Amino acid sequence: MASQAQNLANLEALLQEATPASLSKAQELVGQIKSRQQLLDQGVLGKFNLDGKVALVTGAGQGIGEALAHGLGEAGCKVAVCDLEFSRVERVAADLAAKGIPSLAVKVDVSNKEDVEAMVKAIVDKFGDLDIACNNAGIVYSTTENHSVDIPQTQWERTMAVNLNGVFYCCQAEGKHMLKKGKGKIINTASMSGTIVNHPQIQAAYNASKAGCVHMTKSLGAEWADRGVNVNCISPGYVDTALNRTEALTPIREQWIRETPAKRLADVQDLVGAIIYLASPLSDYCNGLDMIIDGGFTLW
Ligand SMILES: NC(=O)c1ccc[n+]([C@@H]2O[C@H](COP(=O)([O-])OP(=O)(O)OC[C@H]3O[C@@H](n4cnc5c(N)ncnc54)[C@H](O)[C@@H]3O)[C@@H](O)[C@H]2O)c1
Repeated sequence: MASQAQNLANLEALLQEATPASLSKAQELVGQIKSRQQLLDQGVLGKFNLDGKVALVTGAGQGIGEALAHGLGEAGCKVAVCDLEFSRVERVAADLAAKGIPSLAVKVDVSNKEDVEAMVKAIVDKFGDLDIACNNAGIVYSTTENHSVDIPQTQWERTMAVNLNGVFYCCQAEGKHMLKKGKGKIINTASMSGTIVNHPQIQAAYNASKAGCVHMTKSLGAEWADRGVNVNCISPGYVDTALNRTEALTPIREQWIRETPAKRLADVQDLVGAIIYLASPLSDYCNGLDMIIDGGFTLW
């Protein structure tokens, strides 16, 4: 079966030819294009279409969150991009708008419950609804020098405040809106660190926070499953983002690559398809799923 792009190119050529024979072929082709489009709209691919849905992404100022925001926008969503660093989401919102995607930049510290509630309110005020929420903001303090006994308490507390409390505050504020209308998709960004212990770097706080995020996702996934709200998470392996382009981690990136069956770090684009699936009606029977996307890292 020819692709729609190929069909349209053929149609253009026939119309340009503009002979009685080519125009009659063009007429035939229009029929084929229409039935192919009907299949695309009403078949399985149409179910990935998120036209008119309202989505939010936290930590959308760069890295994974920025890619998720673009993916959701390209799938048809209006997208609120939310981050502690407002200038970053201002830029991302402008990039989305330049593609014709309705967007809103929101400044939020997800570790602050009032901030999170204000974020959801601002989005509902602007777009009238909230259908999809990607709670993606997260931080890590990794070290190859200190052991956990020497890690400052502030690092432990901040990690938990952002990666665990922050995700819970988001789920709560989004859940309040979604449970009221009996419909919604919440997708948290956990990590494979919620399942395995990374090495050689030491990051007990991060690993514990992500394990908490996975189990919180399962708990809320079960709790809200019969109320129309799906809560799931993605757990990336090592992704090539600023999060691990730090001085401390640079020397060990080669080791991560060697230990990954796919022999590379993930690109942010490797995660987008999973989000579109978990945001779409095709995942209506997924509750508390932890989708590990790690190039096979956790298999070895
Ligand atoms: N990069 C990886 O290898 C990797 C692997 C597994 C999981 N993750 C997770 O994916 C998510 C995104 O990671 P990334 O690699 O894109 O990171 P990143 O550091 O590139 O981007 C994170 C964004 O979150 C924002 N942010 C930080 N604290 C915030 C807060 N309190 N409130 C609101 N926004 C805040 C930052 O300003 C930044 O724009 C994180 O939850 C991270 O733990 C990343």
